[in-house]
Amino acid sequence: MDNRPIGFLDSGVGGLTVVRELMRQLPHEEVVYIGDSARAPYGPRPAEQIRDYTWQLVNFLLTKDVKMIVIACNTATAVVWEEVKAKLDIPVLGVILPGASAAIKSTTGGKIGVIGTPMTVQSDIYRKKIEALSPEMEVQSLACPKFVPLVESNELQSSLTKKVVYETLHPLAGRVDTLVLGCTHYPLLRPIIQNMMGPSVKLIDSGAECVRDISVLLNYFEINRSRDKHELNHRFYTTANAKRFAEIAENWLNLKVNVEHVTL
Ligand code: DGL
Repeated sequence: MDNRPIGFLDSGVGGLTVVRELMRQLPHEEVVYIGDSARAPYGPRPAEQIRDYTWQLVNFLLTKDVKMIVIACNTATAVVWEEVKAKLDIPVLGVILPGASAAIKSTTGGKIGVIGTPMTVQSDIYRKKIEALSPEMEVQSLACPKFVPLVESNELQSSLTKKVVYETLHPLAGRVDTLVLGCTHYPLLRPIIQNMMGPSVKLIDSGAECVRDISVLLNYFEINRSRDKHELNHRFYTTANAKRFAEIAENWLNLKVNVEHVTL
């Protein structure tokens, strides 16, 4: 047993999609979350900067005495997961491998689309991981740089958002049977994305898939939180506006949250 919280980091509010799934699958676990909305989006930034920012978030979480870190951001996972994992002596999870495996499991015709930030797509990491596991898959990737700013400004249903999603995803329409949401912000746009791609396309939420791995690791290292400890004190931190973050988080998690502004 280990009653310390699990730490989550993201460039902004996207990692909340992972937290929601954690709360559904592992409701006894406590969360500490840091979102760097002041510097989002990370996706168009150079790798070295994403690396520096991610380490700042990791170091912040370490000050909160977390028992595990989840890099709930595909972009940061693509750039720095291996390095963080190698340096820390607590388990560190990324969201890319779980998303890649789930896509292989879900596809019926071997045609997998991956959407992500410019850095995630440029790194080609999904294609590499998917092909390493299953070389016969055909992977088509597409960067969607306009999606994260829309989510960060809580424009989840607006007509502008619909227009942007439709125009951006157009090149993939009718060409894939499975689509990996390779950015943790994208599940917040899921209904529009599903509508655009059509009901036969299976959407893979890489963050939600990673919660199964969190569960496996908690069991493996025997660090689950005790079920007798009922009082959960989830803590959320943002580098931007706490009120805006709380609005998005409360809607998404269906829970009253305690959000604090921090400067890194
Ligand atoms: N949620 C982050 C991801 O999964 C978004 C990165 C960004 O800020 O561009 O990649």
